[in-house]
Amino acid sequence: MKIGVISADIASEHRVAITPDAVKKLSKLGFEVVIESGAGQAAYYSDEMYQSAGASIAKSGMAVITQSKIIATVHDLPVDAVDGLSSGQIVVGTLDPYRNTQLDTYAAKGVTAFAMELLPRTLSRAQNMDILSSQANLAGYKAVLLAANEYSRPFPMFMTSAGTVKPAKVVILGVGVAGLQAIATAKRLGAVVEASDLRPAAKEQVESLGGKWLDVPMSEEESEKSKATGGYAWTPSEQYIKDQAAVVDKALSNADIVITTAQIPGRQAPRLVHQATLDKMKAGSVLIDMAAGTGGNVEGSVPNETTTTDNGVRIVGAANIPSMLAAQSSDLYANNLVNFIATLIAPTATDDNSENGTTKNEVTGSDLALQLDMEDEIQGALAVTHDNQVRLAKR
Ligand code: NAI
Repeated sequence: MKIGVISADIASEHRVAITPDAVKKLSKLGFEVVIESGAGQAAYYSDEMYQSAGASIAKSGMAVITQSKIIATVHDLPVDAVDGLSSGQIVVGTLDPYRNTQLDTYAAKGVTAFAMELLPRTLSRAQNMDILSSQANLAGYKAVLLAANEYSRPFPMFMTSAGTVKPAKVVILGVGVAGLQAIATAKRLGAVVEASDLRPAAKEQVESLGGKWLDVPMSEEESEKSKATGGYAWTPSEQYIKDQAAVVDKALSNADIVITTAQIPGRQAPRLVHQATLDKMKAGSVLIDMAAGTGGNVEGSVPNETTTTDNGVRIVGAANIPSMLAAQSSDLYANNLVNFIATLIAPTATDDNSENGTTKNEVTGSDLALQLDMEDEIQGALAVTHDNQVRLAKR
């Protein structure tokens, strides 16, 4: 059974879905891998490296699509690749399901599409498939380095004969996977760090990394609501948003560096930094908006661009930081995909189980038996199209 990989269709994407190391892992599982020539080049993986790992090279993306049972991808496939798909094929990748306009086409063609962002992250057996965590971890680290590069002063305190240099004041808004890694990295560089999140549980994590918690007052009702989401972001009230804006305004007026990471899967990112606050910030201060690709946490941020406000504040619209660390982020992403794809093959071939109420469905390849099971809590959660249906629950 073949797994195919094509080049990313977007110039700003340097990652590749399967790396040579992942090819070896897939080969051990019994898969063959075919990759479009040059697909790994921007992540420093040459065709020769893929061939040495056991993959075959195809001249065009379409040649990959037509011969592969499973197509592994970083982003959703380009339109012409989707046109070339046929019934029974499987697509696995970051499919941006809530903004994806091709799901009807996948369904109509009988393709099973798995959107890796929908992984049930709290399931322990799913953790090695968590692309959001693997990519956010690297992005949080790199965001701090981007900020350090843009900033015209150093991060650590220096005692020199010419005078004392104060440490940079860093504020992190949104303390999930990326935010925690950003705190750790900024602390390692010697900065003074403050951080905030609407999940109260983040306080302890911020403090354990040596950061100061920026507290936003929360009503009892909100506190209960935040607990009921099982540790995930909740929808804040108008009062909370107002109080949060005041806390952010005060902290940012004194900040040198701000890194915003707040995202809500499937929805527009929350606006956390408004123009009135930007107006109060110091000339030369730097904001890295990691949510620039999903609407932006910072007013005026532009995806993939750095803008400077009239008062000299630099806003970096960091829409795709993982692509800047393409060699490493591809490696971790590919590992996540391999771990998921491994669950799609049946340990042994068994009979079709559809008559007992499950949607268990087996397709036998030349060598491996593929087992799609929509009752499985991982496959069922990730499958956005299957059996000619779009299966995405509305948000
Ligand atoms: P994310 O990338 O979706 O968002 C980043 C952070 O922004 C989150 O901490 C979120 O609470 C925060 N945020 C969202 N809206 C906000 C607002 N209006 N104001 C302030 N902060 C806001 O988050 P990520 O990194 O994907 O993590 C999401 C949750 O998943 C976290 O609770 C994390 O601990 C949890 N998680 C659990 C895992 C597990 O159980 N194995 C693995 C990874 C994450």
